[in-house]
Amino acid sequence: MSERFYITTPIYYPNGQPHLGHLYTTICADTLARYHRLAGRDVFFLTGTDEHGIKMVQTAAQFETTPAELADSNAGVFVDTFKRWGISNDDFIRTTQGRHKSLVTEIVRRLLDRGDIYLGAYEGWYDEGQEEFVTETTAKAQEYKSAVSGKPLSKFSEPTYFFKLGQYAPKVQAYIEANPQFIQPESKRNEVLSKLKAGVADLSISRATLKWGIEMPNDPGHVLYVWIDALSNYITALGLPERPSRFWPADVHLIGKEILWFHAVYWPAMLLALDLPLPRTLYAHGWWVSDGKKMSKSMGNFIDLKKLDWYAATYSQDAVRYHLLRAAPFGNDLDFTEADFQKNFNELANVLGNCLNRTVKMINRYRNAVVPEASPSEDLDHRLLAETEALPGKLAAAFERLELQTCATLGIELARQTNGYIDATEPFKLAKDPAKAGRLDTVLGVSARALCVALSSLLPTLPHKAADGLRQLGIDPHSPDYGGPLLERLVQKSTAMTGTKVGDGTALFPKPPDA
Ligand code: MSP
Repeated sequence: MSERFYITTPIYYPNGQPHLGHLYTTICADTLARYHRLAGRDVFFLTGTDEHGIKMVQTAAQFETTPAELADSNAGVFVDTFKRWGISNDDFIRTTQGRHKSLVTEIVRRLLDRGDIYLGAYEGWYDEGQEEFVTETTAKAQEYKSAVSGKPLSKFSEPTYFFKLGQYAPKVQAYIEANPQFIQPESKRNEVLSKLKAGVADLSISRATLKWGIEMPNDPGHVLYVWIDALSNYITALGLPERPSRFWPADVHLIGKEILWFHAVYWPAMLLALDLPLPRTLYAHGWWVSDGKKMSKSMGNFIDLKKLDWYAATYSQDAVRYHLLRAAPFGNDLDFTEADFQKNFNELANVLGNCLNRTVKMINRYRNAVVPEASPSEDLDHRLLAETEALPGKLAAAFERLELQTCATLGIELARQTNGYIDATEPFKLAKDPAKAGRLDTVLGVSARALCVALSSLLPTLPHKAADGLRQLGIDPHSPDYGGPLLERLVQKSTAMTGTKVGDGTALFPKPPDA
């Protein structure tokens, strides 16, 4: 893997406020970004908002405001929300920014120059009563009648520019076939391939009836419609195609499964047309439902920002992050239930919190708060130390494979093993026998070392709690001690903890009073 790492989220529609789905993708990307920084890579983590298009116009009309005002106000909420949730993005791109618009104009100019864009006609359906465009699929499902008035939809045809997607589709297909890591998970890759094999039409990229968008450089009567504008954000944020950037190609575009097709086919086709390298991996994750049902405001099961903030205030933001990453193997659909949240919170409190608490408390009580020197001699010691030493490698492999659930649980599993080790070695009994003082030193020293590595490995998942835990162990989580990647430094520090003064064992995950 390169020493730089570029990760993106989709850019979100700011026609409403952020909710669980948006925060989920962003937290997953944040976890990846944090890991790669920890491993010493130079990371660029991009998120942002997708502000043009019909949805923005319609929502603005509903609220009797302009699309620009709506975008400003809701993009601000996305920015503030991500800040409040400690998201470590390096940039936030808005498609209404001048830097984006001028580079998109340049992109379209290049596509025009290559002859990859031509003027044709777009045919569609219109609901006159609702003043609304209806897609062919929806129109067909409604038997070509208005869903509201039942009156027949009117057919219309309007001029539109097309991008020669069909011409690029075989190249995109060949690329996907030759690069198994390009689309993940694999099941999604197969879906894309079978759809590609069924044939791909050219892509309508402009609307003459819409004013809210980036103008076609050759025809100010048209604005770009949706995908060329939106997908370009991944390169315009870097200054491409005008300036080269060492961050391109992206390492991972993290997206929800419903927008995979656009990323897997339109985006590579555009990049091929621009002679730019293709991203290394597109990862399409699953969708959240709530209590087994699609989240909806009317059902009252919508996990909105207010609810997430409540969970964060009650259980901590890191507990929410853990739940989101832990709820299902990464890539699968996920169900947000109160019971699962409790289970995952209890796991944090009872496994990680408890292990830290008892280790630190014993070091306080038996060794005056100073980590004693361990002289591992028994199988039990060697087994826990072997697990400890293996953890960074397992973590690297899990992050490389984007198995985010595993990434979140590896450190917890080591804490669980450490708890088992403490149960088996019974330090409270050893403490009663002065002849066993050396053995007690070892048990405490080995436990502290294992916990140090467990907590370090959790820094990407639980940035605040893992850092607090390390501080409890007497370790500065950002310690510049030796130079080199932080994770390596922390692992090194775990082997040299003798003499470290620990904290007082304050609970890491206190249970809320009414829980
Ligand atoms: N603007 C487009 C994306 C353009 S990317 C070049 C868009 N925006 S969106 O606001 O609808 O956000 C979609 C993304 O939000 C999904 O791809 C996913 O990352 C996230 N989610 C929204 N709802 C979700 C769930 N219920 N569950 C999980 N994530 C989902 O599409």
